[in-house]
Amino acid sequence: MLVYLDGTYLPRAEARVSVDDRGFIFGDGVYEVIRASGGCLFTADEHLARLERGMRGIGIPVHADCARDRLLAIAEHLLRENGLLEGEATVYVQVTRGCAPRTHHFPAPECAPTVYLSAARFTPPVQIRVVGASAITHPDIRWSRCDLKTLNLLPNVLAKQRAVEAGATEAILIRDGVVTEGASTNVFGVVGGELRTYSASNYILAGITRGVVIHLAAELGITVAERPILAEELPHVEELFITGTTTDVLPVVQLDGRPIGDGRPGPITNALGEALARRMGMGLLAHRA
Ligand code: PDD
Repeated sequence: MLVYLDGTYLPRAEARVSVDDRGFIFGDGVYEVIRASGGCLFTADEHLARLERGMRGIGIPVHADCARDRLLAIAEHLLRENGLLEGEATVYVQVTRGCAPRTHHFPAPECAPTVYLSAARFTPPVQIRVVGASAITHPDIRWSRCDLKTLNLLPNVLAKQRAVEAGATEAILIRDGVVTEGASTNVFGVVGGELRTYSASNYILAGITRGVVIHLAAELGITVAERPILAEELPHVEELFITGTTTDVLPVVQLDGRPIGDGRPGPITNALGEALARRMGMGLLAHRA
């Protein structure tokens, strides 16, 4: 597979990053994962806009080599060159502050950011979508700028590992008695007939998929209340689902070993899952036209 690193396309096995890279030393950088189907990137503008917001948010200069149109062209080139114009794929984009002797503060003079992109084949979780997934609850021990999609994913990694050890797909994070999001997804739930998700604040990454799902819900006449689900409400939640670029809409039918609702994907979840699949298809057709 060919990847892109700092201005060069090269085989993945030959790509090398310096041990002085601040991404390696401090997790000092931001990233995105973008979905592609049939060679077309879904909501690429939104992902690249969020990456740029993240760079500005942590003070990485947005030079021409990491401008949105440049990154989009590189992503499309990688899909083409790696034979990913058919079927499903993902593109990974990462920008770090660059290489410099280790100091906690930003290096002076400013260093050139490290820009890395790769593309990979993706197999959608089709089967689990039909029967539904299980999840665990886990304390949300992250910092208070979860809106920045930074490389610092250790709390997410630890939470996801606990989920895997419990035989579950996702860890649903609880902060101050409310559900914030998943380790790598956003969380929606139906409580007393009302569809709810945590509001787009500094305590979650407001996912691009989350935004599309809220929009689709409105089109279907379903109101989404951007209000948190309380941890104490979880035993009474009628439906629960998670969303993300590599997750789509995934029903959660079991939480901490107990069934959600009747233990099967609910009607609102299914309607939104189907609407998202249609929208992804339409987005791609529109792109082709
Ligand atoms: N994760 N919340 C967190 C903490 C995430 O890491 C992600 C995505 C989401 C969903 O965002 P989006 O719909 O924009 O993908 C929510 C990516 C896919 C990852 O880290 O691999």
